[in-house]
Amino acid sequence: MAYSVTVINHPLIQHKLTLMRRVETSTAKFRSLMTEVSMLLAYEVTRDLPLKQELIKTPICEMSAPVLAPDKKLVIVSIMRAGQGILDGMLQLMPSARVGHIGLYREPTTLVPVEYYFKVPHDIEERDMLVVDPMVATGNSAAAAVQRLKQTNPRSLKLVCLLAAPEGIHNFHEQHPDVPIFTAAIDEKLDEHGYIVPGLGDAGDRLFGTK
Ligand code: URA
Repeated sequence: MAYSVTVINHPLIQHKLTLMRRVETSTAKFRSLMTEVSMLLAYEVTRDLPLKQELIKTPICEMSAPVLAPDKKLVIVSIMRAGQGILDGMLQLMPSARVGHIGLYREPTTLVPVEYYFKVPHDIEERDMLVVDPMVATGNSAAAAVQRLKQTNPRSLKLVCLLAAPEGIHNFHEQHPDVPIFTAAIDEKLDEHGYIVPGLGDAGDRLFGTK
């Protein structure tokens, strides 16, 4: 199966991403940029949503106009906690989307991801799923989250992030060759602590001001 990785290199996304990378960018600014970039990512990631024609009345006349097909329902699943940043932005653009959360931590001795939170809507089987996490570094948490989410049988699945490391993409696609990745950039590498280089630091800390 051919792996699918789409780099969404729209100039507005690239400019805002550079502002996010800057070490001097404040928490408030980082958060608002995350919202803006996520809205732009959502725009690209939903490009294939089907439309249907509906008869409407403008102030001038009747017309047949496109609306989103009602049976094409979305669920956005945030990988906690940094996924919340992308989720907030996407919900501004798609306020009717349903939301799920998944929380995983890495067990320090075995390094196996352990689930500590899982809540998704009941009608997942009728929904297309966007799994969101700003940073795909090793790819381990995204792969474990998708493994768990596949058990709920969504209609389709896409992974959306801000930055990915080549190692993370490779690891993720080894486990989930069927799941396309959408990212704003692919950086150079991981450092010895698992941070993306050049990256933007710890996305959760920068988003929530916890460092
Ligand atoms: N998670 C982050 O928030 N940043 C990284 O660079 C890697 C993982």
